[in-house]
This record gives sequence, structure tokens and C-alpha cells, in this order.
Amino acid sequence: GAAGQSRIHESAVKHVTGRAAYIDDIPCPADTLHVALGLSPVAHGRLTRLDLEQVKAAPGVVDVITIVDVPGHTDIGPVFPGDPLFVDDEISYVGQVIFAVAAESYQAARKAVRLAEVEIDEQPASLDPVAAAERGEFVRPTHHHQSGDWEQALRDATYVLEGEQFVGGQEHFYLEGQACLVTPSEDEGVVIHTSNQHPSETQKLVAEVLDIPFHAVTAEMRRMGGGFGGKETQASPWACIAALIARRTHRAAKLRLPRAEDMRATGKRHPFHNRYRLGIDDQGVLVGGEITVIGDCGYSPDLSDAVVDRAMFHSDNAYSLGQARVTGHRAKTHTASNTAFRGFGGPQGVMIIEQVMDDIARHIGEDPLTVRKRNLYRPGRDVTHYGQRVEQLQLLHDLIGELEQSSDYWARRQAISDFNRESPIIKKGLALTPVKFGISFTVQHLNQAGALLHVYTDGSVQINHGGTEMGQGLHTKVCQVVARELGLDIERVRITATRTDKVPNTSPTAASSGADLNGQAAKDAASKLRERLFDFAAEHYRLDRDGMRLEGGALVAGQGEAERRLPWAELVQAAYLGRVSLSEKGFYATPLIHYDRNTGKGRPFYYYAHGAAVSEVEVDTLSGEYQVTRVDILHDVGDSLNPAIDIGQVEGAFIQGMGWMTSEELKWNDAGRLVSDGPATYKIPAFGDLPPVMNVKLLEGHPNSQASIYRSKAVGEPPFMLGISVWSALRDALASLADYRVAPQLDTPATPERVLMVAQALRDAQGAA
Ligand code: MTE
Ligand code: MOS
Repeated sequence: GAAGQSRIHESAVKHVTGRAAYIDDIPCPADTLHVALGLSPVAHGRLTRLDLEQVKAAPGVVDVITIVDVPGHTDIGPVFPGDPLFVDDEISYVGQVIFAVAAESYQAARKAVRLAEVEIDEQPASLDPVAAAERGEFVRPTHHHQSGDWEQALRDATYVLEGEQFVGGQEHFYLEGQACLVTPSEDEGVVIHTSNQHPSETQKLVAEVLDIPFHAVTAEMRRMGGGFGGKETQASPWACIAALIARRTHRAAKLRLPRAEDMRATGKRHPFHNRYRLGIDDQGVLVGGEITVIGDCGYSPDLSDAVVDRAMFHSDNAYSLGQARVTGHRAKTHTASNTAFRGFGGPQGVMIIEQVMDDIARHIGEDPLTVRKRNLYRPGRDVTHYGQRVEQLQLLHDLIGELEQSSDYWARRQAISDFNRESPIIKKGLALTPVKFGISFTVQHLNQAGALLHVYTDGSVQINHGGTEMGQGLHTKVCQVVARELGLDIERVRITATRTDKVPNTSPTAASSGADLNGQAAKDAASKLRERLFDFAAEHYRLDRDGMRLEGGALVAGQGEAERRLPWAELVQAAYLGRVSLSEKGFYATPLIHYDRNTGKGRPFYYYAHGAAVSEVEVDTLSGEYQVTRVDILHDVGDSLNPAIDIGQVEGAFIQGMGWMTSEELKWNDAGRLVSDGPATYKIPAFGDLPPVMNVKLLEGHPNSQASIYRSKAVGEPPFMLGISVWSALRDALASLADYRVAPQLDTPATPERVLMVAQALRDAQGAA
């Protein structure tokens, strides 16, 4: 079970037996107050009157608060200001919090909320990011990457192609919604239980809102029922509000958003509008040009600078853009502030260049896979548009070659062409799309982690680190690292809840870097403790220090005849009696990375993770309905820390990516109100949507070329982008309606309605021709 081997998730049995505790399962103190929120019904306007007298007088109500009741900071913007904890006078989206009510029961709090008298001077809502960008309405300034003379490249090109696309957003739909329980502590501070990817930030924001020192606030996080980026910054407001109540009333306060409010009040994956004008040579290889991405950020910056940056960093995906300029706009609209979501803008950037690959293929009449392979980074074309050299250049060529074989791509291509020629209504499509995803936070200082290791005198081990568990298996992997360093069975190693008073000043668990960073920090702690135990054993037992090792639950010294084995528990007991510390902390900071935002150049990523997927679809072109019939995936995780967990991550990420591309449609009405605000109207993939054939394999024999934790690679986000192969396969099926001579415009999500409209338009055009 040590690092490198498959091992079940540390909470797997609890997950499936319902014994894993989430926020709602924590027993509340007897005096707990329950919080309900008064949310804005309007997308844009000014709050002209707020009368809460009847709310305060309602049965069971103990406290009612608004912006004027905040003793400290009223703005909780995580990176840049712009996120007031409560509406001051300007209202910026439907679902923005105007006031909070604390009552003896949740029902009482909810009923009281409805008694508020709210008057708003409503103004027109800006909901179109493209129009906002044209008017120069941005939450952050525009940013560029440029490599070489892109205009010259367009002049030199054999053909110039242009296109655009709308890429939809996505609701996180974590099964456990936003929730927290805050208890006052006797030293005038608070303890926060929160479903949260970034406990340190919540600690900081709560302290600033309450105007107390950070050391008076402790945030604790055992596990989330999913985060997916939606609890990186957007778990904090609820903790701040509950903490205000707890501090004012000296009672515990619980705040859990009902699903519909959760969906309205929190930000989502950024919808994007992307455009390209790119030149190609006669082989269909990119020579350069221009890409523009517009991220719909919602009303405030939140993490949008980094999200749109990551879209820009990934607008090349796996292909050299040649001499190119990439522009990223951060449009401001009157919706909740869009935020991190698995891939963090990367998927939206990858979408534009994957559209380009298909468009080139139709233009020059070659198979899209041939075009993709020709455009891959290769010797002589190995530097990205932001100046990072691509290492492991051959890897993706090998990976695609292997997948091409194992998925039987070319034979199926032939069979599909034959089928489509004979089948007027049902059309099949096939696509292979790769991914190359940069690993590291693009904000340099976040690439650090800490760990705290305790060994008790019975030999049992406790490890704590700054990362958070959201189902991805991070805690399992970190336990495996410690078990491997100390030569112990994994049963001996227990992980404890993430707590800001154990490992301080931590980064969010995000950017797929949880295991890379915290695994290294845990390894640092374990190896330091091991060396100390070796020193002790060498002296105490007069053993040869050279060649000493911890393996199979024992300290082993000497070779052959002279070998001595000392059971771990005995060693630990002796070290304790010898007054040797059995506790150690570890630290890690990622080397090599740097990025100069002024020049748009650097090496923002420690390494790249890769993968590819082949998806096949079958489309009824008279109804627009379709099925994904087969998926083959080959994914690069270097030397896997835990193949079973990594395959689970690849499968889950693919399906989530497929949902984003196909069925998950966010709908706002003209007044800016989200109407798809629950599972009845917002469709995440269900069992029936799973491809009946799904072959998932991890690439073997390609350890990370960088010294990552045991040469593994991050896995959380990269395979999300493999879902794009489903969209490309749908375009392929649709293109067959025009004998593969037209690249159909297919915005996302490619719902049956959208597919039908495109099919209809292609048929009409064929009829007219
Ligand atoms: N897997 C599960 N089961 N639940 C999640 O919420 N979040 C994803 C990914 N996999 C998530 C998940 C996201 S957005 C990220 S950034 C990574 O996990 C974070 O964890 P890691 O850095 O430990 O991979
Ligand atoms: Mo993941 S979007 O980086 O939390």
C-alpha cells in the first residue's frame, strides 16, 4: 500500500457506508443558531430602502445583520477587492447577499427572511460578455502573450482561417453544498468547520471581517463532498457571515445553503467567447496569427485574472502556434463572480485550438487526427507562445501513437465513413483529442506546502498537511508517501483533518498540485525524522549508520550475516526513552518556476501532464439526440502514486468534462436570474449517459522528467479536457452531412437542440447547393 501501489481511498468504506462525516454530520452544540440569507432578486441596481424590523420581530429570530454590522473589513475579495460581504448600496447580481438572519431553527430563519421590506432601483443588467468587452467593461485589465511577428506570419501563410466559438460555463454541482459551522472560542476567537479548499484564506478573511488577529481563528476541514474549484474562494463568505453571528451572539452558528441558493449565489466555470485568425501552410501546419479569448467573469475579479491567464496559457493545447499573439479579456457582467473550476480556464483555452484543428482538417481535406499530429510540439517547434520550452517532447507523439493502435482508430474511421455513406439519418463521428496541461500555480508564491508528522510511542504515526481532501484521494497518497519513507504498512499511518493551527499559511488545494506539494512536504518531514532515528540507532545500538534503512516495519542495519533488524515500535520506544523528538515538520517549494506578467514570458509550469482520448458518437440527425458509444483514454501520470486512484480521477474528470461539453446548460433569463438552478433543470451526467465501452489506461514507462514526488504527475484536472473529444466527435458526425467539406459551428454545451439546429442548417445548405 505504500506510494506507487494501488490502494483504496482512505475513506472508501466510510463513503459507501454513509459513515464519512461532512459538515452537516457534525453534532451541533445545543445552543446552535441557524442562518438564512436575504438574497437580491435583481441583477443590477441600487438598494434604496431596507426595512428589517419585521424580520427582527419574527418568532425565533436572535440576530439580523447587514453590512453596517461588520466591525472589520467589509470587502472579502480574495486577490483584488470587489466582493462586499453584504450589499452596501450597489447590487451586482441576482443572489447577492443583502442580509443574514440567525434564528433558533432553520425554518424560523427562512420564514423571517421573507418579511424583509426591500426596495431596489433596478437598472439594466449587462449579461453579454462580448458586448461588455466591446464597451471596455472589464474586472481586470487585458493581458497579452506574444511570440514573434504574428502579422508577418499571417502574410506568409498559404491559407488564413478564421472562426469563433461560444463555450458554456458549468455549475460545480458538488454533492455537499456550501456549508459551515462556527463556534465561538473562550479567547474571543472562533473555530470554523467548513467545507473548503482553502482553510487558510477563510481563516484570514474571517479574522479581517471580525477585526481580530489571525491566531484567534482556527479553520478545520476533514473532507468535502466535492469541491471542483467551487470551494477555493467561494466557501469563505458563508464562514465570515456565520462567524459574525457567532461572535455577536456567543453562540454556535450554522450556515448551509439550499441547492437553489447555492447555485444562484456562487460563481461557476467562466463561459468564454473565443476567436481566432490563424495562418497555416500547405500541410495544414500553423504558422501563426491571433487568438482572442473573452472570459465572462461575472461582477468581480475573484480569481478571474488567473483563470483567464490559464485559458491563454492553454490556447495552444499541444500544438505550436507559431508566431502568435494571444489576448485575454476579463469581461464584467451582472452575474455571480465566476471562479475556479477543474482546469481553471485551461479547458476553455484548449477549446479554441481544438476547433482550429478540426477546421484546418476540413479546409485541407485531411483527417483531423493527421492534422493534430502534424501540429504537435516537436524539435524546432518546442517553445510556447509564453516562452516556456516543452520538455518530454516525444511523450505525446508516443502516447497518441499507442492510443491510435489500441483504439483501432483507422479501422474504425473507415467503418464509420462506410456507415455514414449508407445511413442518411443516423450519423457516427469519431475524434481523438490530446491534452497538454501545465502543472503549478501560475501565481508563484502559492507553490509551497507544509506538513506535520507525529510518531507516538506505540509506533503509530499521524500526518497532517496543508492540503484538503475533496474525494480526489490526496490524503491516501500522502499516507502512502509517509508509509514509504518510514518503511511501514499504511495501516500504521493516519491522516488528520486539515487545520490552520497545525500547518499554517497554506495554499488552496487546487491547480492539481495537492499531492505534488503536500506529498513533498510530508516526505521532507518523514525523511528528516528517519535520519534522526538513524543517528539515534547508530549510537544507541552501536550499529553501522551507512546503509541503514527502514523497511517492512523495521529498522535494518548491516548486510548478510551482520544484518540486524529492529522492529519499528521498539525503535520508537527506545528513541522516546532516549529523549529524541518523535515529531517533525516538513516544507516544500516548487523549484524552477517563474513568470513575468509584464512581458508575458517565463516558465510558469514545473512540467506538463498529458493524455489523449478517442470518443465515438452516434447522432440521430433528425432529433439531435446522440449517444457516446465508446471512449478510449491513455493518460500520463508519470510514475503513478496510486494507479487505482489515478484511474478513478481520469474517469471522473472525463465524465465531468463530457457533461460540460454536452448536457450541462446554464440558463439565465433576460433579467439575469439563473433559471437552471437545480438538478431538474441542470443536467449533470447520469448513469445512463456513461459510454457503454470505456477503456482507461495509464501511460507506462514515462516517469516525470522533473524531480516531482517519486516522479509522478498531477492528475486532478488534466483529464477533464479529454471530454472535448466528445464535442469534436459530434462535429465530425455533423460534418458528414456535408461530406466532410464543412466545419460546422457547434457552440457548447452541444445539447441535442444545438446539434439538431446545426444538422438542420447543414441539410438546408446542402439542399440549396
Ligand atoms: N476529485 C473529486 N473526487 N472531487 C473534487 O472535488 N476536484 C478536482 C480534482 N479532482 C475534485 C477531484 C480539482 S478542481 C482539483 S484542482 C484537484 O482535484 C485538487 O486536488 P489535487 O491537487 O490533490 O489533485
Ligand atoms: Mo481546482 S479548479 O484548481 O480547485
